[in-house]
Amino acid sequence: MEDKKTLFSAIQPSGILTIGNYLGALRNFKKLQDDYNSIFSVADLHTLTVRQDPATLRKNIYELTALYLACGINPEKSILFIQSHVSAHAELTWVLNTICYPGELSRMTQFKEKSKTHEDNVNMGLMDYPVLMASDILLYQSDLVPVGADQKQHLELSRDIAIRFNNRFGETFTVPDGYIPKTAARVMSLQEPTKKMSKSDANLNAFISMDDDPDTVIRKFKRAVTDSDNRIIFSEDKPGISNLLTIYAAITEKSIADVEKEFAGLGYGDFKLRVGEAVANVIEPIRQEKNKLLANRDYLDDVLKNGAERAERVAYRTLAKVYKKVGLVARKRG
Ligand code: TYM
Repeated sequence: MEDKKTLFSAIQPSGILTIGNYLGALRNFKKLQDDYNSIFSVADLHTLTVRQDPATLRKNIYELTALYLACGINPEKSILFIQSHVSAHAELTWVLNTICYPGELSRMTQFKEKSKTHEDNVNMGLMDYPVLMASDILLYQSDLVPVGADQKQHLELSRDIAIRFNNRFGETFTVPDGYIPKTAARVMSLQEPTKKMSKSDANLNAFISMDDDPDTVIRKFKRAVTDSDNRIIFSEDKPGISNLLTIYAAITEKSIADVEKEFAGLGYGDFKLRVGEAVANVIEPIRQEKNKLLANRDYLDDVLKNGAERAERVAYRTLAKVYKKVGLVARKRG
């Protein structure tokens, strides 16, 4: 690999991604990939922590692979691979589990939230999820991890785990930094703007999926919840309007202040239409490219095979170092 710092991030193939995932994470991956040795993963093992239909999961894994590529991830430069193809992720998780504690894992906000939304399936994997995430990051000695704001707590735990391991067994892991975008780190629901936009929301009008066609995008924005007065300003007591301003600013790469000026005096109806059109203009070409790529399964399989081969070379080097540090005996080869 080139003499650059290393960047790692991953996304779960748990459904069709939303513009929250795009603006909070994916779009930044493309921007950062040239400046780092970049590694991107389809976090399929994480997805198993919530009950999945196997056929749908398989489909979603290819969907996400195609979307990464359609969003500009260049497989010649960056490594793109499926997490389960590199078994070191599961193996390092085992070792890290031995220095993590139920108390700290059960305090994670996402665990507490998911324990409520999946009351009938609070499994060990759900609680262990951040340890697997730490393994993803630490295996590649990652310097930078671009994520949305909702992953900040998990990222901090990854840093703690790296520091804890290094203190106990000697310098082994790079302690990673997070990269959380200034705008759109937390895109909110279009229907309940005090809640995060999520691909698993039961209300389809609450999120814009990266698979929505332009008419659907515009219709959903027209229905977005706003509030009673007619001013288009960014303010804590106007979560609906603030969210729409944020989405527009992020998608057009303008500042919130400029966007407020642009829309001054406009009615909510016209404003929502303009936001919808701007979003549709950006995501429609991505959707079409993704669908083109999805039709070429052989190409996707080749990209993933190559990605896994490149990823595992780095991952097993770290795993061997970890096994040695904790006192395991290396297997004799040849
Ligand atoms: P996941 O799959 O839920 O989301 C993927 C990325 O999208 C960001 N995101 C958002 N950003 C802005 N607004 C939103 N409404 C929004 N919703 C989601 C997430 O912060 C994330 O960056 N645990 C991770 C996947 C993962 C990972 C890793 C990430 C597994 N291993 C190692 C980084 C490093 C997750 O579930 O993301």
